[in-house]
Amino acid sequence: MHFPEYRPRRLRKNENFRRLIRETKLSVDDLVFPLFATYGKGVKKPIASMPGNFQMSVDHLVKEVQRTKDLGIPAVLLFGIPETKDEMGTGAFAEHGIIQEATKAIKDAVPDILVIADLCLCEYTSHGHCGMLDSGEVDNDSTLEVYAETAVSQAKAGVDMVAPSGMMDGQIMAIREGLDDAGFETLPIMAYSAKYASCFYGPFRDAAESTPQFGDRKAYQMDPANSDEAIREIMLDVEEGADIIMVKPALPYLDVIGRAREEFDLPLAAYNVSGEFSMIKAAANLGWIDGERAMMECLTAIKRAGADIIITYFAPEAAQVLAR
Ligand code: PBG
Repeated sequence: MHFPEYRPRRLRKNENFRRLIRETKLSVDDLVFPLFATYGKGVKKPIASMPGNFQMSVDHLVKEVQRTKDLGIPAVLLFGIPETKDEMGTGAFAEHGIIQEATKAIKDAVPDILVIADLCLCEYTSHGHCGMLDSGEVDNDSTLEVYAETAVSQAKAGVDMVAPSGMMDGQIMAIREGLDDAGFETLPIMAYSAKYASCFYGPFRDAAESTPQFGDRKAYQMDPANSDEAIREIMLDVEEGADIIMVKPALPYLDVIGRAREEFDLPLAAYNVSGEFSMIKAAANLGWIDGERAMMECLTAIKRAGADIIITYFAPEAAQVLAR
């Protein structure tokens, strides 16, 4: 193909031509909306660094989930902020824990939307790490037991899927076994397979009150410089029984999403994390960028890179744009 015989501009002439040859089409079907459940009643506390997002007590949360469903979004991803935290993170698997209560209330009021539970301990531990401590380090294997117990507790509360985000080795196998032993062999696992130790989780940690009280997460989350390792991490999760694999964050890791798409044929999720959201909001609020176009361009890029599922705080706004 050579100029002047081939002129790519011929098919860019107007929007109808562009529609005909568009390769990537974002759909509301692709979106998952993350929500923060907190204790108490009548609470709807804005998250300063994430405009339009709130910590919500169950009564408000149910209304937000109804609105999400009315916008045609197929799933929400729940994070919990417990009233009290302890060394072991027992709030994660308490029968009347925040995720468990929120799930039951949502299932009662809005049955026709998927409830996905984030499965981690960092919101529940007093030290803010994603697992159990042993001599000041996050201990892998004792944490696995707690994850399995948490998965079963979330399943009993009625979640449609669990999403382990703690980056412990062997977590998918431990959770799969725990679920199967408890009779939940049909409950799928969406694995945060390649989750990087990223600064882009900053706003989320304010939202979920899950900042580590000492140190950082680099001993369990991945080094941003690595992509072969991401493929090995995903391979482990596939072998251990993941139903959906994930790359997180999304925008700084589009190459990893692209590689994962080529190498694995499981459904692939990408998490457009809090910092990615907040950067666009901040620039738009300053008048430095067109926020709506930036949102749509980024979400389309994540899909173009190969993601089937996009977890994003933009979900309601994007759904509204897509419905026009
Ligand atoms: C919990 C968890 C985190 C996020 C999702 N699950 C935070 C972390 O690992 O520190 C980040 C989500 C976001 O930034 O939007 N382990």
